[in-house]
Amino acid sequence: MYLRIYIAFLSFILTAAVGAARTSVPLVNGWSFAKVEGEKTYQWENVAIPHTWNDADGTTPNYYRGKAAYRCRFDAPPVQLHTQRTFVRFEAVSQDATVWLNGKRLGRHQGAFTAFCYEITHVLKEKNNELVVKVTNAADSLVMPLEGDFTIFGGIYRPVALLILPNVCFTPQDFASCGIYVSQSKVNNEIAHLNIIAKVDGAKDSDGPYGLRTTVFAPEGHIVVTATNSNSVKDGSFLTLNQSVDISNPQLWGGVGNPAMHRFFFELIHNGQVIDTLSQNIGVRYFEVNPHQGFFLNGKEFPLRGVNRHQDRDGMGWAITHREHCQDMELIKEIGANCIRLAHYPHSDEFYTLCDEAGMLVWAEIPYIGHGTRHYAFDANARQQLTELIRQNYNHCSIFCWSLFNELGGSGRPHELVEQLNELAHREDPTRLTVAAANNDGRPENDMTDIMAYNTYPGWYWADPGTMQWAIDWKYDPNKNRAIGISEYGAGASINQHDQHIVKAPKTDGSWHPEEWQALVHEGNYREIRKRPYVWGSFVWNMFDFASASRHEGDRQGINDKGLVTYDRQTRKDAFYFYQANWSKKPMIHITSKRHTTRNEALTDIKVYSNCPEVSIEVNGKYVHVERLEHCIFVAHDVKLTSGENQIEAFGITTDNDVAITDKCSWTLNN
Ligand code: GCU
Repeated sequence: MYLRIYIAFLSFILTAAVGAARTSVPLVNGWSFAKVEGEKTYQWENVAIPHTWNDADGTTPNYYRGKAAYRCRFDAPPVQLHTQRTFVRFEAVSQDATVWLNGKRLGRHQGAFTAFCYEITHVLKEKNNELVVKVTNAADSLVMPLEGDFTIFGGIYRPVALLILPNVCFTPQDFASCGIYVSQSKVNNEIAHLNIIAKVDGAKDSDGPYGLRTTVFAPEGHIVVTATNSNSVKDGSFLTLNQSVDISNPQLWGGVGNPAMHRFFFELIHNGQVIDTLSQNIGVRYFEVNPHQGFFLNGKEFPLRGVNRHQDRDGMGWAITHREHCQDMELIKEIGANCIRLAHYPHSDEFYTLCDEAGMLVWAEIPYIGHGTRHYAFDANARQQLTELIRQNYNHCSIFCWSLFNELGGSGRPHELVEQLNELAHREDPTRLTVAAANNDGRPENDMTDIMAYNTYPGWYWADPGTMQWAIDWKYDPNKNRAIGISEYGAGASINQHDQHIVKAPKTDGSWHPEEWQALVHEGNYREIRKRPYVWGSFVWNMFDFASASRHEGDRQGINDKGLVTYDRQTRKDAFYFYQANWSKKPMIHITSKRHTTRNEALTDIKVYSNCPEVSIEVNGKYVHVERLEHCIFVAHDVKLTSGENQIEAFGITTDNDVAITDKCSWTLNN
C-alpha cells in the first residue's frame, strides 16, 4: 500500500518537473504612486503592493475618490524566449484601471473586485520595464456598485504577478480564471461524476492533437483515478478540452469539521510530452435546499448558521495581506459558524481558498446594490463582473450559490437585468444555485433566483427583536416552493457604551449604541430563526465592524458598528459570545457587560453565555441563584453589588470530562 502511494507520488513529482515551465513572480516592490487631480500629479511616493490610498481617510466623509497613478520598474524574470510567454495578472484594482507596459496600452478593466490579465510577451524587455497603471475609484454610473454604505477604497489593493507560461498553456486569459473548470455534475455517496473543461491558449490547428491527463489524489494522498481521454473543440481563440472523470465511493467534503479535499493534477499533453501542468484542491460534495426543511449537505440536514464579512480592516482598508485573511478566518472558526456570506462583492481568491480548507459554505456575490442604470454599458459591466466572479472561483467547492443583487429598489426595471444575470449564472454554472438578498417585498426580481433571502433588522431599524417571527413568517409561504433565508440581521454596538436597563432600540443613527442592546437583538432574532427549520440559512450582519464613510453613529466616525468583532479585530463584543455558545462545540463561558466596569446601581442582573449544561456564578465569593434560559443563556437576577470593587466569577462544567471552565471580571460600585 505504502509502496503504491510512494510510486504514485514519485511519478507525480517527475511529471510535475517536466511541466515546471509555469511560474508566477509577484510584483510587490519597486512601485511608486501619486494622486492625480486634473493636470496636477502629486509627489510620487514609494509603495508596496497591496496598496490603497484611502488607508487613512477611508472612514471620513470626504475620503478621496478620484484618480491616481502607479508606476513599477522591474527587470524581466528569466524567461525562455522561444518556448514561454509572459502575462501580467492583477488580482483586483479599485475600480477602473488602464494599464501600459513600456508605453504600450495593454487594456482597461472596470470593476473593483475581480482579476484581469494581459499578455506582455512582445512588450517585455530584459531590463528596465515600466508598468503604469492609471486608476480611479471615482463613482461611475456605469460600473457596479452604484450604492452601498461601505467605503470604496481605491488602489491596487490585491497582489499583482507576472505569469510565465509555456507557449501553449492552460489559458490565464479566460476572464482571468485559471483556465480549468471542474464541474460537479452529479455527486452522491457512491459516485462523483465530474466534467472537466480545460481551455488552452496558443494551440494552432496545424499542431495536431492536444490531450488532457487528470490525476486525482484522495485526501490521504493516494491516486484515486487518472483520466486521459478528452475531446477537443476550437472555441474562439481557445482550444477547449472536455473530459469526464468518475470517482467511485468518493470521500466527500463535509463542511466544517470534515473539509476533505481531493488534489487534482492536470497535464496538458502534446506529442507525448507534458507541456503545462496545473494543480487544484477541490472537495467533492452535493447540496440541496428544500423550501420546507432547509439546507442539506451530502444528503443530510445541515442548517446554515453564518456571518457576513466585508474585507476591510482598520488602518489598512482593503489592502490586506495573508495574515489578515487568516486572522478573519480564525475568528469565524472560533465563533463556530459554518457558512459565510462574502458580501457585497467578489472577495480575494485567497479567502475562498481558506473557506474551502475550513469547510465553510460560501455565498458569493456581485456588487449589484441599491439600483442600476438603464444603460447598456452598465448591464454589460454587470454581466462582466458576474462572469469573472464565476469563472475565477469556479473550482472553490465552498461556494454553493451565486448572488445576483443586494437590496434593489427604484424604478429602473432592474428585474430585466436580474433575469439576464440569472440566465447567465445558470449557463456559466448549472451546478450551483442563484440567490439574492432583498429588503423589499413584492418586487418582481425577488421571484427570479433559485433561492431567496431577506435582509431584515427587527429590533434595530424597526420594531423589537422578537418581531423577527413576523418578518420570517411574512416571507415564507408553506404552499409555495420558495426557499427563504435571512441574509442580514443585526444591530450596532460600541464596546465603550453600556446600559443595563435598555428595553428598546436606541436611535440607530445616534451616538449611543450600547453593547447590551446588540446582544439582546441577536438573542431575540436568533430564537425566532431557530424555531423555523425551513429558513435555509441565516447570516449575521456583520462579523466585523467595517468602514462606512458616510455614517457618523455609535462612538466612531465612518464605521458601521454592527460587527460582532471590532474593526481592528482586537475585541469580541458580547454578541460574539452568544453565537459562540450556540455554535461552537468547544466549551466556553463568558460573562456579559464585562466592560461595564463602573456601576452606579447596586442591583444588577448578571448574564452569562455558555455551552456548558450547568453554570454557577459567585459574587464576592458567594454563590447566587442562576436561572437557565434557552439558547445557552444563564442569568442571575437582581444581584446586589457592594460599594467598591466586586469580584464576579462564573463556572461551567463541561460535559466531556467534568472539567470546570471559568470567566471572571470586576465591577466597581460607586456609592
Ligand atoms: C443593508 C445593506 C448593508 C448595510 C446594512 C446596514 O441591509 O445590505 O450593506 O450595511 O443594511 O444598514 O447596516
